[in-house]
Amino acid sequence: MAEPGTPILVAVAWPYASGSRHLGHLAGAYLPADVFARYQRLAGNRVLMVSGSDVHGTPITVRADAEGVTPADIVDRYHAEFLDAWERLAISWDCYTSTGTDNHAAVTHDIFLRLLEKGHIDKRTSEQFYDAEADRFLPDRYIGGTCPHCGYLEARGDQCEDCGRTLDPEELVDPRSKITGATPELRATEHFYLRLSDFTESLGAWLDGREGWRRHVLNFSKGWVEEGLQDRAITRDLDWGVALPVDDLGEGKKIYVWFEAVIGYLSAAKEWAQRSGDPEAWREWWEGDDARSVYFIGKDNIPFHTIIWPAMLTGYGGLNLPTDVPANQYLTFKGGKASASRGVGLTIGEGLDLFEPDALRYALAASLPEQSDTDISVEEIARRVNEELVATWGNLVNRVLSMVNARCEGAVPEPGDRTADDVALLDGVDAALVTAGDQIDRVELRAALRTAMDAAAAVNAYLNATEPWKLAKTDLDRARVVLGTALDAVNGVRVAFGPYLPYSSAVLAEALGPVDGWRRPDLAVGRPVEKPTPLFAKVDVEALLAEGDGDAGA
Ligand code: MF3
Ligand code: ZN
Repeated sequence: MAEPGTPILVAVAWPYASGSRHLGHLAGAYLPADVFARYQRLAGNRVLMVSGSDVHGTPITVRADAEGVTPADIVDRYHAEFLDAWERLAISWDCYTSTGTDNHAAVTHDIFLRLLEKGHIDKRTSEQFYDAEADRFLPDRYIGGTCPHCGYLEARGDQCEDCGRTLDPEELVDPRSKITGATPELRATEHFYLRLSDFTESLGAWLDGREGWRRHVLNFSKGWVEEGLQDRAITRDLDWGVALPVDDLGEGKKIYVWFEAVIGYLSAAKEWAQRSGDPEAWREWWEGDDARSVYFIGKDNIPFHTIIWPAMLTGYGGLNLPTDVPANQYLTFKGGKASASRGVGLTIGEGLDLFEPDALRYALAASLPEQSDTDISVEEIARRVNEELVATWGNLVNRVLSMVNARCEGAVPEPGDRTADDVALLDGVDAALVTAGDQIDRVELRAALRTAMDAAAAVNAYLNATEPWKLAKTDLDRARVVLGTALDAVNGVRVAFGPYLPYSSAVLAEALGPVDGWRRPDLAVGRPVEKPTPLFAKVDVEALLAEGDGDAGA
């Protein structure tokens, strides 16, 4: 575990502003990042959590062409939608920006020029696909075809979504233009290339030294390096994107979206520093020896974060490489990947229309695809909310606060004479906090949530064993000791749930006082305890499914 006060960069995949994001994206990157960041802040670390909308690239221009609007229209629409979703979900960004800022272009140019100067970028003439009918070159997603690696028929020009390999369009078997459907021809064009092959050895050694990384992330990345790193074109024949800082290529070329999007992590940190009033403050997270940087992404983004971005950082020099890249597998929705580009699953907005934010956060966190693809459905979310969140945690809080209100004169009672069992309950809660903290620190977020839920279940078991509602009639003093103990236990368990459940945690902070660290807070004897209102509503599954059939597409 990090020493308190460690600078931790929480770097979160930049969502394409090309369409609504889905619950799969939420579970893949944004929710885990937020849980991790909230925990690290409570643990006393210096968190900088950054991301922004990825506003360039062919996902945006393809969408704009299809709708007959400008790329800027598309970007404005979805950037606004994302901001709304983050607010509703209480995602605790330190800086959420976009790749459309002047600052981002300036930081991108700085990195491009340094890599050019150091010889890691060079200019080459290559053959690229050209659609003679549409009279234009066809970058990335303007081309579809068969994956040369796995035979998937619907591979895109930039990546095969089936085997996860990144592609260059020329590698596709049986390529087709997405604009006209024609078979494109190859024509000579000039582009800048990132000499990834310069980094095969250093990145191989770096990956060999990674400890505690998820096995699937490490295996995938090492496999890529062992195949030998290929130099990659980092400019495209497009007019939508970050301009080149040199005019060698003439009109109609822009920097490739993936080259500049990953730079967003650095440009957002610099933007945050500017706004904080200390423009140099970003250095703490990017240059400090003790700093950590943890990248929250879905598995289709792995090579960009474990190879290409580290190569760019190595070439640039002086900036920290990722400490960990705990990429998630896919969250599938009734069997199909919850992906914006394939249009299956619920959008984040639809999920929030069906469920309270804490309920949605809980159910997704309990199903995070950390080790393998994980299936979820509206019924499964509802089941987890009703049978776990409401039945175990919500009811526990409700009954303990109600009984304290009714039996202890509406205030936190004196601890009194606690028995060994009473003390053991609180020791168990304190131990659960230590365990959950370690688990979150290792990005085992499902397990940490389980730890919190088990601790809540232990408090329920304690109440069932001690029956304070009966005791109150025969031995009110003992009943008050039990209720005071249970209240203290709830006071500790809420800390473990805090990173997952920001809304209900705020309600509990009103009731019990603020949480001031990753520990069971002191509970002031005599503090008024009001009659509570339930933290979470039970979900009416029947009504929900009827609604879901109508418009949410569940
Ligand atoms: N926009 C990409 C996606 O949605 C993710 C970019 S992550 C970044 O898949 F770091 F490169 F920005
Ligand atoms: Zn493939």
